[in-house]
Amino acid sequence: MGHNRRVSTARELIPEGASLEQLRSLAAGCQACDLYRNATQTVFGEGSAGATVMLVGEQPGDREDLDGEPFVGPAGALLDRALHDAGIDRRQAYVTNVVKHFKWRPAGKRRLHQKPGAEEIRACRPWLESEIDLVGPAVVVCLGATAAQALLGPSFRVTRQRGQFLAWERAPRILATVHPSSILRAPDEEARAREMEAFVADLAVVRAHLSDLGGSP
Ligand code: URA
Ligand code: SF4
Repeated sequence: MGHNRRVSTARELIPEGASLEQLRSLAAGCQACDLYRNATQTVFGEGSAGATVMLVGEQPGDREDLDGEPFVGPAGALLDRALHDAGIDRRQAYVTNVVKHFKWRPAGKRRLHQKPGAEEIRACRPWLESEIDLVGPAVVVCLGATAAQALLGPSFRVTRQRGQFLAWERAPRILATVHPSSILRAPDEEARAREMEAFVADLAVVRAHLSDLGGSP
């Protein structure tokens, strides 16, 4: 753990030329916003440094906060299944979040997820931008509106533009789809099956492109 003074964004904590592993240990001591105060630990991205696909979620959940790894709870299990069904190997992907600390409020004995605010997203985004620059994925996949709007702008609407490749300055391609948690919240089995199918179809667009690039992902 570092002992960094409070800063307005994580940018000031990122040295020129830092490696992914250096970033990971610097992020462990980040106090650029208040979210570190009530969280167990920083949950940095995980995966191959040469990954061709980067999956970006919102923020760690309860399980991720305790384990220190992204997408290892219920949403992660659903994501794993969808990636498998789309023919993408999670071990070949880099998985991360827009915000690296769990934001929650107490509800009895449980910790309830709270959406990160604009200030927290702004404070944390330099970590994600550095991850993208260092991993250099061929495709970035935004999982849900928080990731899509953080990377593509506040007017981006997942419902209107999901599953389409868009031009972007930081990576050759970017695509947005729903967040796996939204599928877990589907009102009934039928809706859940339908939403899962659409999610897998969006990921299959990514898989087809990765195949075109040569080599299976
Ligand atoms: N939801 C996210 O957005 N990210 C995680 O890592 C887990 C759940
Ligand atoms: Fe730093 Fe991000 Fe954690 Fe805020 S959420 S303290 S910016 S790592």
